[in-house]
Amino acid sequence: MPAIVLIGAQWGDEGKGKATDLLGSRVDYVVKFNGGNNAGHTVVVGSEKYALHLLPSGILSPEVIPVIANGVVVDIAVLFEELDALSSRGVDVSRLLVSANAHVITQYHRTLDKVTERFLGKRQIGTTGRGIGPAYADKINRVGIRIQDLFDTNILRQKVEGALDSKNHLLVKIYNRRAISVDEVVEDLLSYAERLRPMVADTGLVLNQALDAGKTVLFEGGQATMLDVDHGTYPFVTSSNATSGGAATGSGVAPNRMERVIAVVKAYTTRVGSGPFPTELLDASGEFLRVNGAEFGTTTGRPRRCGWYDAPIARYSARINGVTDFVLTKLDVLTGLDRIPVCVAYDVDGIRVDEVPVSQSDFHHAMPIYEEFAGWPEDITDVRTFDDLPKNARDYVLALEKMSGARISAIGVGPDREAIVVRHDLLG
Ligand code: GDP
Ligand code: IMO
Ligand code: MG
Repeated sequence: MPAIVLIGAQWGDEGKGKATDLLGSRVDYVVKFNGGNNAGHTVVVGSEKYALHLLPSGILSPEVIPVIANGVVVDIAVLFEELDALSSRGVDVSRLLVSANAHVITQYHRTLDKVTERFLGKRQIGTTGRGIGPAYADKINRVGIRIQDLFDTNILRQKVEGALDSKNHLLVKIYNRRAISVDEVVEDLLSYAERLRPMVADTGLVLNQALDAGKTVLFEGGQATMLDVDHGTYPFVTSSNATSGGAATGSGVAPNRMERVIAVVKAYTTRVGSGPFPTELLDASGEFLRVNGAEFGTTTGRPRRCGWYDAPIARYSARINGVTDFVLTKLDVLTGLDRIPVCVAYDVDGIRVDEVPVSQSDFHHAMPIYEEFAGWPEDITDVRTFDDLPKNARDYVLALEKMSGARISAIGVGPDREAIVVRHDLLG
């Protein structure tokens, strides 16, 4: 099972970090291929809780080589902070590789992210404010700074000058902010170069050679399908391809090497930031999910919007990503509910629609059509086999499996590393 992709099926925070960590001891490389420190993965190992943003969750497994691939945008100060924080807790971070082609997030990207959000007013996206969108915009505009530029001072200066030229006009004349000096940015970036140098590699080459040698490579997506810049709820999305296709472009490993696509999906739905969310609950049920599921952002601490499971979204994810296996997480959070509604289709202006509508306005108007399932009162956090789950919990999982377009191979029953029910081996 050489190359495996693991992505989020909904709007993020499905528990990808925990799922990666679960596979960590059995894979050789874990690769982050998109996004940056907008991600927030909480992994609980025994009494230790780790919050990872920029680093792939595989960093917690001692045998794994963690890789930040070309598709990522790297805030180097955050990278070092995260490495130092893990080292001080005894995690060996010395194996990390960073792509020479990955783009860099600088001070002006963070400033622009915050200032453009403020100017959007009511239309704001609710970004994490980490500079992600502006850094990807520069990449596409061909004025980005790459990791390799840090090792050529002349080139770096020229590129920063080029990037700041128009941005300073924008910052000063439109946004009423102070201009950012080229020297300041160049000095800041150069100050990281020597520490970064030993980590920098041609990661596309390294990964392909590893696959040739029979190693197992896990591609861990940040964000999720509905936040993908092409396939998500645009413009309320992040600025990268968080779907399985992004694993190929974001790493330099060809799509025909990816043999399995694992999608992590919550037993209900959450979203952070603005944008359409048909099953959102603004009542006590939403509060029940938020409190029981501890649905507060790992990155920004914002309360997550909560709603019931949306089967058309799961089916859409199965289709867009080529999902072979779902990992259904947080089933335990539903314990204690009497009835559990599941969205099976939408009502769009009086017409039943079974799939995610292509028109954003239709999706904004979509009203969920629910089917209800019976809940269970029993605590399931210590259950480790499918047959030991209460019958109603099993029926709920089997119903979701039928609606969602791929088998449910593992089920999360608690935050802890061990709290998982495996039905089919994810690597077998
Ligand atoms: P990610 O961004 O997809 O990695 O997910 P986050 O870490 O942002 O959010 C998932 C949260 O749910 C984390 O706090 C996990 O510790 C927690 N979690 C993961 N799986 C389960 C589960 O099966 N049950 C419960 N109760 N919590 C879980
Ligand atoms: P993980 O990997 C949930 C959301 C932000 C905002 C939008 C754009 O933990 O699942 P950005 O800063 O990326 O430009 O913000 O995307 N967002 C996430 N929501 N989980 C994430 O990551 C997210 N990363 C970005 O809230 O709505
Ligand atoms: Mg998260």
